Amino acid sequence: MTPRIEFFAGAAMRPYLPALARLRIAVFRDWPYLYDGVLDEERVYLSELAQCPRGGMAVAFDGEEPVGCSTCLPLAEAEQGIRAPFLAAGLDPARYFYFGESVLLPRYRGQGIGVAFFTAREAHARDTSDADFACFCAVERPADHPLRPPGAVPLDAFWRRRGYTHHPELACTMRWKQVDSADKVAHRLSFWIKPLRAAPQG
Ligand SMILES: CC(C)(COP(=O)(O)OP(=O)(O)OC[C@H]1O[C@@H](n2cnc3c(N)ncnc32)[C@H](O)[C@@H]1OP(=O)(O)O)[C@@H](O)C(=O)NCCC(=O)NCCS
Repeated sequence: MTPRIEFFAGAAMRPYLPALARLRIAVFRDWPYLYDGVLDEERVYLSELAQCPRGGMAVAFDGEEPVGCSTCLPLAEAEQGIRAPFLAAGLDPARYFYFGESVLLPRYRGQGIGVAFFTAREAHARDTSDADFACFCAVERPADHPLRPPGAVPLDAFWRRRGYTHHPELACTMRWKQVDSADKVAHRLSFWIKPLRAAPQG
């Protein structure tokens, strides 16, 4: 059965933050993130999200069990490192809604849940802000990366079909411990952007 999707905003997200942390650690361990996550660090990130009244989270449930999550918040309220490339490029963060992670357990993929995560977050951004654009960032990996699984299909085409355009010139750096590293490694993540309104300027 396809999981049902519910959307939670602001403080209503709080009961689902532990599930988001668990899903992030489980799903991001795989290619392409290779994230060796620990719950303590997740708690810091999640407490910031929980304090954002205009933040939102779509949750996919199998029965009562969260099996996927997808978050968003105004870019102006995202952490400094995510806003920085926009400011450096002379772009006003107030015009953007930032979409955080989408994480869905593998056995639930290919049933339209990822599409529904985008639809729900774009609706939330339009309903709760004047933002002209939705944006998210994704890790960049070289084609010859030693840990790339054979046959791995990048999500680029999926994102383009959702209306997003890649802006490789707009990128931020995030540090995380990778599954094959002893210490945290700097990763470059570049942005994808989609207009949320009929004719945004610039
Ligand atoms: C990103 C992720 C959530 C996408 O999940 P998904 O649920 O498999 O995606 P969907 O099923 O919605 O879409 C995949 C395809 O199936 C199609 N599809 C299948 N059944 C569908 C249905 N019932 N309704 C709508 N679309 C359906 C979609 O249209 C899409 O094809 P398209 O791009 O040609 O239109 C999932 O791949 C994931 O968790 N990846 C690992 C983490 C990650 O990299 N996240 C992204 C960066 S944070």
